[in-house]
Amino acid sequence: MSAQSHVSRITAPQITARKNGDPIVCLTAYDAPTAELLDAHCDLILVGDSVGMVVHGLTTTVGVTLEMMIMHGQAVMRGAHRALVVVDLPFGSYEDSPETAFRSASRVMMETGCQAVKIESGSYAAETISYLVERGIPVMSHVGLRPQSMNVLGGFRARGRTQAVADEIIENAIAADKAGSFAVVVEGVSEELANKVTQAVSIPTIGIGASAGCDGQILVTPDMLGVFTRVPKFVKKYADMQGVIEEAVSTYASEVKARSFPGDANTYKFTK
Ligand code: KIV
Repeated sequence: MSAQSHVSRITAPQITARKNGDPIVCLTAYDAPTAELLDAHCDLILVGDSVGMVVHGLTTTVGVTLEMMIMHGQAVMRGAHRALVVVDLPFGSYEDSPETAFRSASRVMMETGCQAVKIESGSYAAETISYLVERGIPVMSHVGLRPQSMNVLGGFRARGRTQAVADEIIENAIAADKAGSFAVVVEGVSEELANKVTQAVSIPTIGIGASAGCDGQILVTPDMLGVFTRVPKFVKKYADMQGVIEEAVSTYASEVKARSFPGDANTYKFTK
């Protein structure tokens, strides 16, 4: 028996078992140091394809590649040791067939070591979800506002305001549940619809801009840390990182200009 202490990771079935239980705490991460800071507080860390917008400066998630997701997934896995790590399958890497989805998802799992993938799923994706799950890949689904479809939807807008669209979102969530997803993200819907979706499925719903009616919540971490001036209205800023960075960088710039900054060979050591 090994004497080494071992922290085991939260698993996809453990997340599923939290349906109607303790709220599930989720955030996104894209790099190792952030993942390390989030790990103690989060049940689930998502390497979201939002990385394209909040790290790479793209205007939508459509340009994100599988290689980008793998590189950021590897970094997050180096930082997080307790939370369940889920990596998004990007646009174009899974939609055309279950086989394509399996090739992409298995690469992501093998090359990053993450424990699950997420796909933005309408009812059309049910076959793909069961194909992946039967072959050993836990899947988190994503219904409501699906950012990869923003060119069809006409922008990043709340969904489900008409009865027809609300019914379709409930159907998509039920299809994802029946196909074997371990959880489903519900994005940009009213509290009433979030409650209906949550009651309609046997798996946890993870809300984003979808009220407290879900079984858990997720936010894009740089948004909630206040890195950006413009964020969606539903996002609460829990910190003002923009202010902190601006203040630190302007102080640094003044000290460099005044030749008053410290640091030489005597202090070129790393503190623990
Ligand atoms: O890409 C992402 O970060 C996401 C979450 C916002 C749910 O899909």
